[in-house]
Amino acid sequence: MRCLRKRKELAALKIWAHRGCSYAYPENTLQAFEAACRYPITGIELDIQLSKDGKIVVIHDEKVDRTTKASGRVLDFTLEELKQLKIESHPDMEGVTQYAQIPTIEEVFELVKPHCLKQGMLINIELKNSVVRYEGMEELILETVNEWGIQDYIIYSSFNQESIKMLKKKEPSVKTGILAASASDCLAFSEANPVDALHPCIKNLDVENLGEKTGLPVRAWNIRKYEPFYPDGGEVEMQDLDGLERIGVTDIFTNVPERYL
Ligand code: G3P
Ligand code: CA
Repeated sequence: MRCLRKRKELAALKIWAHRGCSYAYPENTLQAFEAACRYPITGIELDIQLSKDGKIVVIHDEKVDRTTKASGRVLDFTLEELKQLKIESHPDMEGVTQYAQIPTIEEVFELVKPHCLKQGMLINIELKNSVVRYEGMEELILETVNEWGIQDYIIYSSFNQESIKMLKKKEPSVKTGILAASASDCLAFSEANPVDALHPCIKNLDVENLGEKTGLPVRAWNIRKYEPFYPDGGEVEMQDLDGLERIGVTDIFTNVPERYL
């Protein structure tokens, strides 16, 4: 009884798997997303880029160097070529080969859609179009999501403000989140533009009474120094969920959702 009561009193802050369960498994892979779907979390976060032949692939960096055994820009590889690239996979994953692949967005939707429909799992798609301006990325992802019939489970985010504006303009019913290094930058954008959530860095929550000032969901994300990725491992700085909630944060993106549940 006491235990149950205690759980209820604790933060209702929502937990998202950032690039999947990316501390335990390679980030932005089907392994990491599959692991995330085993937990009662609010959603998964992922990053998209476009291949040379215009396919949506799920990878964080503009280059493949950090996460695969190859090197070069994502946009210089066709999808077929990207699929050949090897990502060191988790040795304990049953039934998988030694290497994971860069997934397409369709492969992720195929894996996660049943969890969206069954338990309301959300997918935050971050459009990585600030460094490389992938022309047509907005139309393509909107179209793909519509084809899969999972519009209700998608939140689009980007550091590229024009991209967020464009998504809302093309399809006003979509849910968006503005990404920025600080809460004040997110807030400033939200005061001047239609947007559904603030996505600031957890280390720059520089607005007093943030919750009252915005009234929107505030989903905070962390940086690698405090939450490493697989296979690096190392110490993880755990967050004070109650403290974050008190200042207006409603959700966190974390590489270690399993540790908060
Ligand atoms: O969407 C939150 C977070 O993922 C933004 O930063 O660099 O991890 O994509 P990054
Ligand atoms: Ca991201």
